[in-house]
Amino acid sequence: MRIGVLGAGNMAEALAGRWVRAGHEVRIGARTPAKAAALAGRLGCAGGGLRDAAEFGDVVLLAVAHEGALDALRAAGAAEGVLAGRVLIDCTNPMAPPFEAPLTGDGPSAARRIADASGARVVKAFTLVPDGVWRTSPPMSGGRPLGVPLCGDDADALAAVEVLVRDAGGVPMRGGSLARAALLEAAAAFIVGLLVAGEDPSAMLVPVAHMGNPR
Ligand SMILES: NC(=O)c1ccc[n+]([C@@H]2O[C@H](COP(=O)([O-])OP(=O)(O)OC[C@H]3O[C@@H](n4cnc5c(N)ncnc54)[C@H](OP(=O)(O)O)[C@@H]3O)[C@@H](O)[C@H]2O)c1
Repeated sequence: MRIGVLGAGNMAEALAGRWVRAGHEVRIGARTPAKAAALAGRLGCAGGGLRDAAEFGDVVLLAVAHEGALDALRAAGAAEGVLAGRVLIDCTNPMAPPFEAPLTGDGPSAARRIADASGARVVKAFTLVPDGVWRTSPPMSGGRPLGVPLCGDDADALAAVEVLVRDAGGVPMRGGSLARAALLEAAAAFIVGLLVAGEDPSAMLVPVAHMGNPR
């Protein structure tokens, strides 16, 4: 697959590294093209500006800070239709201390805003796992396979992202429609709030065999 990565930070490095090693063609783009080129050099792929990466990718990963997401889409040519119809993976978490509410407030989810601003087929994914886990081989969750919930509306886009989850070493989970991305974003903020409080979020989930009928 041809994958464009918007951002040259931790998540860009962790996921792009796995996809390069899985044999995908990856192009990193950042607002400072030299940073993208430096990361690309380390990973063994191409790097440059945000628009180059967006134009390159059949699938585009948006891996910038929540606050910079709409700026990054603009710089990638969203207003000119560069991202329209492309598969866009949104891994952004609209959260900040004290993690009491998503930074999107009562408005649409970050994923919805990203879809509206880009015209892309957005899949929310890769939001719950710290980048360091993707750097371990294989990436594991306490000795179990690492589940990655996906929220999106387009079946072909979801299928493409499922492939990339597997190629990163994870197991795709059916998270439902893009409307449910709002729940995933809130869940991420809640889970990180638990971590910051020194709690183990995995301890609150019981094995599915003990779940009974969810209400
Ligand atoms: N790290 C994790 O464990 C993790 C896990 C799940 C989800 N996420 C989400 O993934 C996203 C990236 O996280 P990260 O840890 O990779 O962050 P990071 O290492 O801080 O990198 C952030 C990237 O965003 C870029 N950026 C910030 N503002 C921008 C703007 N206005 N226009 C264009 N680019 C901009 C930065 O560019 P410069 O280098 O030029 O500043 C940098 O490339 C975040 O939304 C985060 O919530 C992170």
